[in-house]
Amino acid sequence: MKAHRITLLAACAMATTLSLAQTPAKLKIGLMLPYTGTYAALGIAIENGFRLQIAEQGGKLAGREIEFVKVDDESDPSKATDNVNKLIKRDNVDVLVGSVHSGVAMAMAKVAKDTGTLLIVPNAGADVVTGAMCAPNIFRSSFTNWQPAYAMGEVAIKKGAKKAVTITHKYAAGDESVKGFREAFEKGGGQVVKDLSLPFPGVEFQALLTEIASLKPDVVYTFFAGGAAVKFVKDYAAAGLKKSIPLYGAGFLTDGTLDAQGADAEGLFTTLHYADSLGTARDNSFRLAYAKTYKLQPDVYAVQGYDAAQILAIGTAAVKGDLSKKAEFASAVEKAKIDSPRGPFMLSKSHNPVQDIYLRQVTGKENKLVSVAIKALADPARGCKM
Ligand code: PHB
Repeated sequence: MKAHRITLLAACAMATTLSLAQTPAKLKIGLMLPYTGTYAALGIAIENGFRLQIAEQGGKLAGREIEFVKVDDESDPSKATDNVNKLIKRDNVDVLVGSVHSGVAMAMAKVAKDTGTLLIVPNAGADVVTGAMCAPNIFRSSFTNWQPAYAMGEVAIKKGAKKAVTITHKYAAGDESVKGFREAFEKGGGQVVKDLSLPFPGVEFQALLTEIASLKPDVVYTFFAGGAAVKFVKDYAAAGLKKSIPLYGAGFLTDGTLDAQGADAEGLFTTLHYADSLGTARDNSFRLAYAKTYKLQPDVYAVQGYDAAQILAIGTAAVKGDLSKKAEFASAVEKAKIDSPRGPFMLSKSHNPVQDIYLRQVTGKENKLVSVAIKALADPARGCKM
């Protein structure tokens, strides 16, 4: 009897040990996104999209449960290095996901490159992240600032514009967006007569709008996003400019913003790697699931968050949950066709999406697809040696 009890206890203990051994540690994801400020809504949409994709995977990746550690980065590059170091050293995250603001993402990329931590960028377009800073452990599910901007330069030429003025926030994203537009616009024989800017995240547009009125260009090209995009579109219309000078933008100008912009956004042309009316089965099912889960319409940021999780899922499955196998993770992601709501895409050698850039026009409360401005556009990845 006694022997029997001991055997039973031993068996129980062994079973417990076994089941512990079979339960892999949680996969820790450091979400570093803006939850306050001009880009707050963008951060929330990215997280929503990311969580939706994880839920569709049954809430686990390669059998590992997920734990999120969240940081509000406030779109403040001066706090970014501290924030990302805390996620790596204090919280021991397995992977970093962030951010929206190019300056913040560059700081994250620097730390990721130095420490070898996996980083998936779900928005920030900083060209350098998949350019000179490119690395085997850094991936982007979104775009480079160059991509939609270059496409809009071509569109402006095709629409017959000769003289353009640009206006944006003075930081990496704005500067690179304007540069991409100028590259295509000047190649087509156009001329950018003036670059206007204001410090991020300022929204005192009045003096700049007065200057645009006096310069009388054929078109204005702009990069603004989030709360600033809402205000800029409203101020542009209120200044009476919408009737006389077409306003073109990288699509962030009207994405996730249309409810707040109302009639002032109607008719605006923008270029982006997503549109609200793609009408594909893949996009329809994504939009339905997102709307059901969050009682909100998705936007480009939600798509990028969703696809960041798809990239993580593909890599994690390939290494059976062991994220220390960096080379195998990268090689699986490099070979994968990402089944995105925007349309299927693959990553370039520098780990940035090679993707169609759509021309869209605001119609009602939608960024309606007009045409494909450039098919399978790859960023030039200047300076990437990988
Ligand atoms: C950026 O800083 O790279 C950025 C921010 C907001 C956007 C797009 C790009 O919508």
